[in-house]
Amino acid sequence: MADWNPALYTRFEDERTRPAAELLARVPLDGPALAIDLGCGPGNSTALIAARYPEAEIVGLDTSPAMLDSARARLPTLRFNLADAATWAPERALDLIYASAVLQWLPDHPTLLPRLFGLLAPGGVLAVQMPDNLAEPTHRLMREVAASGPWAKAIGDPAVAGRLGRMLEPAGYYDLLAPLAAEVEVWRTAYHHRMADAAAIVSWVRATGLRPFLDPLDADQRAGFLAAYEAKIDAAYDPRADGRRLLAFPRVFIVARKAS
Ligand SMILES: C[S@@+](CC[C@H](N)C(=O)[O-])C[C@H]1O[C@@H](n2cnc3c(N)ncnc32)[C@H](O)[C@@H]1O
Repeated sequence: MADWNPALYTRFEDERTRPAAELLARVPLDGPALAIDLGCGPGNSTALIAARYPEAEIVGLDTSPAMLDSARARLPTLRFNLADAATWAPERALDLIYASAVLQWLPDHPTLLPRLFGLLAPGGVLAVQMPDNLAEPTHRLMREVAASGPWAKAIGDPAVAGRLGRMLEPAGYYDLLAPLAAEVEVWRTAYHHRMADAAAIVSWVRATGLRPFLDPLDADQRAGFLAAYEAKIDAAYDPRADGRRLLAFPRVFIVARKAS
C-alpha cells in the first residue's frame, strides 16, 4: 500500500486526538519509566503521553516513514522508530503499551492482544483504542461502491479491502485479557463529529479506511470511485438544521493492567 499522508490525517486532528486523550485519561499509572506509543502516526498521541508523563522514556513506533518523519518534526526530543506491531519484540519489559487507532489494521486479535500484554513489566498497562465503524455508512458504502464499477477488479474482494471480520465484540476483548490481567476495563463510545459537508466525510476516511480501496486504482478510476462514493455519502448523512453532517464514529477502548 502507498504510504500514509500525515497532512491529510491531521486535517481532523482535534477529532482524531480526542479518543486518544480519553484513553490516556483512564491509564492507571502515575509515572511509567518506559512507555511505547504503538502506531504513533504523526505524534499527536505521543504528545499526549509526553505531556502526562514528562519524566518517562517514550518511544513512538510506526510502519509509515512519512508518519515517523512528521512525528519527529513535532517532537524532536523523543525517539521514533520504524516497527511493525505484528512482529515487534522489545528488548526490555514495558510499563505502558499505548495503541491508539492502530490495532484495527492488524489481523488475529485473539493472538495479538495477549502477545502485547505479555510484553508488559509487572504492574504495566496495555491501553488500546480502535475505531469500530465497519458497519457504519462510511464503511458499508465504500464496500458497496467497490463491488460495482470499472474499479471492482482492481480492488478485489471488498471484504478484504474493508478489513471485515477483524474486530471482536467488546466482551471478546474482555474475555481475552481478563484471565491474564489484574484489572481490565472495556468500553465503547460513539462520537458524533460535526462535519462541514459530504466532501469532508470523504476526506476524513480518505486518510484512513479508504486507503486500501483507492491505492490499487489509477487516477481515472480513483476519480470515478470518489465521485460515486461521495454521492452515496451525501445521501446517507442528512444535513442537520445548521447544514452540517453528523459523522457517527464508534470506538472500542481497552485498558488492562498486569499484576504487580
Ligand atoms: C490512524 S493512525 C493513528 C495515529 C495516532 N496514534 C492517533 O491516535 O491518532 C494509525 C497509524 O498506525 C500505523 N500502523 C498501521 N499498521 C501498523 C503496524 N502494523 N505497526 C505499526 N504501526 C502501524 C500507521 O502507519 C498510522 O500511522
